[in-house]
Amino acid sequence: MTEITEAFLRALPKTDLHMHLEGSLEPETMFMLAQRNGLTLRWPSPEALRAAYAFRDLPDFLALYFEACAVLCSERDFHDATAAYLRRARQDGVAHAEIFFGPQSFTERGIPVAAMMDGILGAIAEAEDAAFSAGLLVSVHRHRSEEAAFEVLRAVEPWSDRILGIGMGGAEIGNPPMKFARFFRAAQDAGFPTMVHAGEEGPAAYVRDALDLDVQRIDHGVAAAADPALVADLAARGVPLTVCPLSNLRLNVVPSLAAHPLASLLRAGVRVTVNSDDPPYFGGWVTENLLACAQAMDLSRAEIVQLLRNGFDAAFVPEPRRAALHAQLEASLAG
Ligand code: HPA
Ligand code: ZN
Repeated sequence: MTEITEAFLRALPKTDLHMHLEGSLEPETMFMLAQRNGLTLRWPSPEALRAAYAFRDLPDFLALYFEACAVLCSERDFHDATAAYLRRARQDGVAHAEIFFGPQSFTERGIPVAAMMDGILGAIAEAEDAAFSAGLLVSVHRHRSEEAAFEVLRAVEPWSDRILGIGMGGAEIGNPPMKFARFFRAAQDAGFPTMVHAGEEGPAAYVRDALDLDVQRIDHGVAAAADPALVADLAARGVPLTVCPLSNLRLNVVPSLAAHPLASLLRAGVRVTVNSDDPPYFGGWVTENLLACAQAMDLSRAEIVQLLRNGFDAAFVPEPRRAALHAQLEASLAG
């Protein structure tokens, strides 16, 4: 039995480097936003919506996730959704958060990119202080065209100074990272750090693709565990994996957390981190993800600490902030 408790985990400074704003809305917030915008959801209540959170796989989840994007319409909506996530993350003991946001779900409904960017970035600026930092990762949809991804890159250009990185999510199978090779090269040439979802439902070969694209981080990446040479390369190159264990469980990427490769990847020296992905949908924030893993995988205190250190090392923060995060963890463990 693990000695790790929820209170111990919540009190430690943590990162959340893989979390989608569109997937952060609590059902109650979704109903509030729907009402504000004169929309009627097809569930009678927040409880009924929460009860619908049972998914077969990633495409099954994405259908609901994209449908629910309809409640976000105005700059104020994007601001309030971001502020709600940041407040909740802070309560969870997150000291640094990076928020994925995919503009294509909204540009297709005619919403101006400025409403999205100003709302989100405004809320981030208001939430940041000496103890808490956050940033925005702009994400494109892999089930759309490469040209559509280039359009996103052009559309967010006016805010490039305040964007931490460019990533890619959406329906994975049949849409390998290499389909977007020119896009990732262009984002890198424009000076952005890049990351890509790979090896969630897709095979280890997609994680190899991601490595070959020279991205700074790989989101999920758990399929790599099936390929020992790839695991060795990930460890040698120190490329972080932003793993989301409860997401993987709820989307049936793994049959159980005991069978999840997080612990074996960690023990093989891969820079794995633990993150929340779409927290209300998958039943947990970072603390719940860490606790569930500690229990199912019998992680030691030293292994938990390594996961948190990996998060600080994988974060897109200036070096003084990284040092402060590490120091805060040391102080927390000593206290
Ligand atoms: N995978 C792919 N796309 C996503 C996810 C995910 O886990 N969450 C939100 N969009
Ligand atoms: Zn994700």
